Amino acid sequence: MAAVGGSAAACCAVLLAAVLLFSAPATTEAYDSLDPNGNITIKWDIISWTPDGYVATVTMFNYQQFRHIAAPGWSLGWAWAKKEVIWSMVGAQATEQGDCSKFKSSPPHCCKKEPNIVDLLPGTPFNQQIANCCKAGVIKTFNQDPANAASSFQISVGLAGTTNKTVKVPKNFTLKAPGPGYTCGRAIVGKPTRFYSSDGRRATQALMTWNVTCTYSQFLAQKTPTCCVSLSSFYNDTIVNCPTCSCGCQNNVTHPGSCVNDNSPYLQSAINGPGKITGQPLVQCTSHMCPIRVHWHVKLNYKDYWRVKVTITNFNYRMNYSDWNLVAQHPNFNNITKLFSFNYKPLTPYGGRINDTAMFWGMKFYNDFLNQAGPLGNAQSEVLMQKDSETFTLDKGWAFPRRVYFNGDNCVMPSPDSYPWLPNASPLTKQPLTLPVLVFSIVLATLLAYV
Ligand SMILES: *[C@@H]1O[C@H](CO)[C@@H](O)[C@H](O)[C@H]1NC(C)=O
Ligand SMILES: *[C@@H]1O[C@H](CO)[C@@H](O)[C@H](O)[C@H]1NC(C)=O
Ligand SMILES: *[C@@H]1O[C@H](CO)[C@@H](O)[C@H](O)[C@H]1NC(C)=O
Ligand SMILES: *[C@@H]1O[C@H](CO)[C@@H](O)[C@H](O)[C@H]1NC(C)=O
Ligand SMILES: *[C@@H]1O[C@H](CO)[C@@H](O)[C@H](O)[C@H]1NC(C)=O
Ligand SMILES: *[C@@H]1O[C@H](CO)[C@@H](O)[C@H](O)[C@H]1NC(C)=O
Ligand SMILES: *[C@@H]1O[C@H](CO)[C@@H](O)[C@H](O)[C@H]1NC(C)=O
Ligand SMILES: *[C@@H]1O[C@H](CO)[C@@H](O)[C@H](O)[C@H]1NC(C)=O
Ligand SMILES: *[C@@H]1O[C@H](CO)[C@@H](O)[C@H](O)[C@H]1NC(C)=O
Repeated sequence: MAAVGGSAAACCAVLLAAVLLFSAPATTEAYDSLDPNGNITIKWDIISWTPDGYVATVTMFNYQQFRHIAAPGWSLGWAWAKKEVIWSMVGAQATEQGDCSKFKSSPPHCCKKEPNIVDLLPGTPFNQQIANCCKAGVIKTFNQDPANAASSFQISVGLAGTTNKTVKVPKNFTLKAPGPGYTCGRAIVGKPTRFYSSDGRRATQALMTWNVTCTYSQFLAQKTPTCCVSLSSFYNDTIVNCPTCSCGCQNNVTHPGSCVNDNSPYLQSAINGPGKITGQPLVQCTSHMCPIRVHWHVKLNYKDYWRVKVTITNFNYRMNYSDWNLVAQHPNFNNITKLFSFNYKPLTPYGGRINDTAMFWGMKFYNDFLNQAGPLGNAQSEVLMQKDSETFTLDKGWAFPRRVYFNGDNCVMPSPDSYPWLPNASPLTKQPLTLPVLVFSIVLATLLAYV
């Protein structure tokens, strides 16, 4: 943000707009600059051969820093390369058996060419469980809950190859979580996984191993934004609300009941209305219509420190967010001194060179569960940061975040020219408009008109 720190106060708003615009995430790429290696890896380990195929343990690892798979959970699909069938499964199930009429005595679990697999529910009988199964398809992030960041099942495949030369890897993997968003690569056969006994004194190994990597793109998920950011400060009593219609507009003509008011007599019937089963959000009527709002308040300015209050508010009557997380980017996050009532981890997506991104999440049994819209539907924290006298300023919106994500999705920010100003820093009246600055802002404005 060095460009903003220059003397070009007259066009600070335009400059800030340009800087934010050019550094805005390109949502069209299946790649997130805050989590460049983020992926879900699906590993198949063949652990034994059978007379007509093999038994494999399939494990999905969530290697994404801040994106989890929430209820109602994942579903995994693929296309068999030959005429394989699934004899049986432990820890998951195919959603459809398909046409098994060829099999006379005991029919397979699934005969579909393109099976679709879902996790089992918690409380599944122990004889149908394996380690890491049966969590209703929910996978946490490694940062928040490493013990629950993987999901496994066991599959017994028939009419398949019975050696590592004749087995054909499945094709066309699809991962829904539960909607679209993930793209999976092809299965790559690699070094067999080694498994260590619990005392670490003996290792066994898989007979054959392949990996599939799936990556997320918010663009593919084609979700309308689900989150927006509002701002305020101690030095200016303006509250900059989320941009109007950030996540949709109130439209009772074409979409009756697209939102409800908190005091509406129809609230209960709307909550249980037609969208309940599909999990469609039912939001409180606001100008932004977002299910989630993140409010950033610059609260205090001490000599060596400053303090920000962050509040997350749930406006969705149909959703409790468990294990929510928030990611924010601010240049002073390299100097977080104290954090109140949230957990925190610095993320250094650029190989540790730039330390300006932090992940926050709730404390277990305290505020890790963001209640549905209503009086309990919020969580808040305060962040104390040590100032770097070279860069710290309350001017030109520096104290506000550059980017915010909730549960891995980008939040809509207010337009930079609406950020609260320092009193008496009104740029258009206080600063003389010098010629170079004028020329520069015209060039920038022209540029902006073309992007
Ligand atoms: C997936 O994530 C793992 C762990 O971060 C990383 O080692 C691997 O290279 C990633 N794979 C791809 C294809 O990005
Ligand atoms: C995989 O998908 C491609 C493109 O959609 C299709 O041409 C191919 O037949 C599929 N493979 C299998 C084994 O279904
Ligand atoms: C598969 O992925 C796992 C986890 O990232 C990794 O440890 C393993 O080396 C990979 N194996 C293959 C065969 O690529
Ligand atoms: C297949 O098995 C042979 C021994 O039976 C082994 O030498 C080879 O490395 C295995 N190949 C793979 C891809 O696992
Ligand atoms: C839309 O309808 C809801 C409930 O039916 C009502 O609370 C809300 O005020 C209406 N919004 C507008 C803009 O009319
Ligand atoms: C959210 O949790 C509360 C308290 O546990 C519960 O009463 C409510 O029904 C839940 N709402 C949804 C939409 O699951
Ligand atoms: C990043 O900043 C945090 C303090 O906010 C510090 O604890 C952490 O060590 C820093 N990480 C790196 C890689 O500099
Ligand atoms: C935090 O700020 C102090 C004071 O400016 C500085 O000496 C220190 O190096 C900063 N720490 C980091 C991790 O940048
Ligand atoms: C506060 O900031 C707003 C811009 O969001 C500006 O219009 C207003 O004049 C500022 N108020 C004061 C007292 O400087």
